[in-house]
Amino acid sequence: MALRNILTKEQPLLYKKSRAVTDFNPRLHQLLDDMRDTLLEANGVGLAAPQVGVLRRAVLVIETNVTEDEDEYVIELINPEIIESSGEQDGAEGCLSVPGEYGLVKRPMTVKVRAQDRYGKTFEVEGTGLTARCFCHEIDHLEGVVFTAKAERMLTEEELQGAGAGEEE
Ligand code: NI
Repeated sequence: MALRNILTKEQPLLYKKSRAVTDFNPRLHQLLDDMRDTLLEANGVGLAAPQVGVLRRAVLVIETNVTEDEDEYVIELINPEIIESSGEQDGAEGCLSVPGEYGLVKRPMTVKVRAQDRYGKTFEVEGTGLTARCFCHEIDHLEGVVFTAKAERMLTEEELQGAGAGEEE
């Protein structure tokens, strides 16, 4: 298990655009394995490569919409693109790079993403609710966009205490 440091919002790298992944090699696999360990250790629901200082288009999203007898699982998305979106949700969003702060962000209710897996094979995956929010949030990271730039407003201390801890992406 190898943990990587998660960059916080003060670090300029977080605001840079990531480049496409072109080599689906052991180095990429190591990055993805480390990102997975880092995400699980931090109890987040998503993580993008630039958050660990690597400006490459790779993200992880945890699928949390599972049935009782199913385990949540990590989806690896390389060079992801949103190809369809529908509906709307407006809710609190957080980020592992902005610990303890949450803001209201509008997102589609459902999105379909086309991406490659760690071997370069193209696939499509659909997410709804938190998973859709997370796909959008992580893909924004690849453009150098942190959710605070999209938030209608940040939640106050009172609202945070009333709502309890949210999810961090
Ligand atoms: Ni984030």
